[in-house]
Amino acid sequence: MNRNGPASAAWELLLPAASAPARTRGRSLQAALREAVRSGRLAPGTRLPSSRDLAADLGVSRGLITEAYEQLTAEGYLRSGQGAGTWVGAAVRAARPPARDLAPRLPGARADFVPGTPDLSLFPRSAWAAAHRGVLAELPHQELGYPDPRGLPRLRTALAGLLARRRGAVADPERIVVVSGVAQATTLLGFALHARGVRTVGVEDPGSPQHDALYASAGVTAVPVPLDGEGIALEPLRASGVRAVVTTPSHQFPTGIAYSARRRAELLDWARSVDGLVLEDDYDGDFRYDRAPVGALQGLDPEHVAYTGSVSKSLAPGLRLGWLLVPESWAEEIVERKRTMDLGHPALDQALFARFLERGDYDRQLRRCQRAYRERRDALAAALDEHFPGSEVSGIAAGLHVIAGLPERYGPEDRFLARVTAAGVAVRPLSAYAHARAARDGTDTPKRIRLVLGYAHIPPARIHEGVRLMAEAATG
Ligand SMILES: Cc1ncc(COP(=O)(O)O)c(C=O)c1O
Repeated sequence: MNRNGPASAAWELLLPAASAPARTRGRSLQAALREAVRSGRLAPGTRLPSSRDLAADLGVSRGLITEAYEQLTAEGYLRSGQGAGTWVGAAVRAARPPARDLAPRLPGARADFVPGTPDLSLFPRSAWAAAHRGVLAELPHQELGYPDPRGLPRLRTALAGLLARRRGAVADPERIVVVSGVAQATTLLGFALHARGVRTVGVEDPGSPQHDALYASAGVTAVPVPLDGEGIALEPLRASGVRAVVTTPSHQFPTGIAYSARRRAELLDWARSVDGLVLEDDYDGDFRYDRAPVGALQGLDPEHVAYTGSVSKSLAPGLRLGWLLVPESWAEEIVERKRTMDLGHPALDQALFARFLERGDYDRQLRRCQRAYRERRDALAAALDEHFPGSEVSGIAAGLHVIAGLPERYGPEDRFLARVTAAGVAVRPLSAYAHARAARDGTDTPKRIRLVLGYAHIPPARIHEGVRLMAEAATG
């Protein structure tokens, strides 16, 4: 390999990651490459060595390099063309420091596929209790006073590490605000937008009704923007006139698609062109079953993206604990809003979660959930295959729900829903998450029934039984 060109630059930058322990080597290589692009050490347009050459020079398997190139291409950091190799993308900026369905579960339902809840029995009670004891023993008295409205420095530092490592976010602890979930992050952003004279925000259609309701509570009206196969559609977004838009790019809720690299870049171009803001709701970004999760959009342009996530899918929604990463120009305002809203997040909870993160307990929990949910997703797909021949599961292998398309013979949708509900099976159709009146009212009901099926909270055997019941009711 030519040691004087860009290839040698890539080689040197990746050398430390290449000697990481085998278990984490792939992830380390990806993180090092991402950081090299972000920091500008690999300039836009730089052509990268072939995977074969780079693998040979680093002494790692070629598969790890191919995987890193694919991952960073999907995230928009790299570009590749057929036979044209791989190069650093142009759009990357140097870094500077009822979908969400909160309806109570149907009491007495024989099977409940309503999406939105993780398996609460996987909550790590003993590790949590140990962290609690540890924190009570070590926390200085003064830390029980009013906390910094941004959150405890110790927790923000631990979160910054987590979000950089797992989600590829540009996570400066100074710009993290600890909040009581994505819901509060959304409300804070809504108030801050309103204070700047913004009265409308784009939302994905179909999308989470929760977004609309939360922005409305801050006096900001949601403007539905349709999706296409790659993510939120750009032409309607431009035509809508909004300057802020809420998105779920890693795993769109509810359709389950991941935004394409092209759409991610286009969306950021749009945000820059209108001096606007993309609100990234990374509600289940940690759960991807077929490959490494696509990194956060925020990592590509931290000045135009506000990123939020929470422990609601990974630990329990009842903890009411989340984080918001804001662009520098929004930070002061958001922190002031947080202060006036509740004088800061409960200190003890924050210290506990910081300890939980620092000791690797959170990573362990994510791995545990990942294993369980992947198995459940597979069980659901197999049960649908068996009991609804001709059905199709769509969306990426990720998160806590799937979209199941059932063949026309099970329709029409309202009759199907009436039958399965009467049999004690709780399900939500995709049409329930559409903003457009026609789709919601059923006046343009598609022939194929499309269901949003949550599976994470149901053990595999019960998933199978639930799908069997649903099929029996639908055909009975
Ligand atoms: C789209 C979406 N965003 C965010 C959340 C989580 O919100 P919170 O963190 O406030 O519990 C959910 C949970 O159901 C969701 O479906």
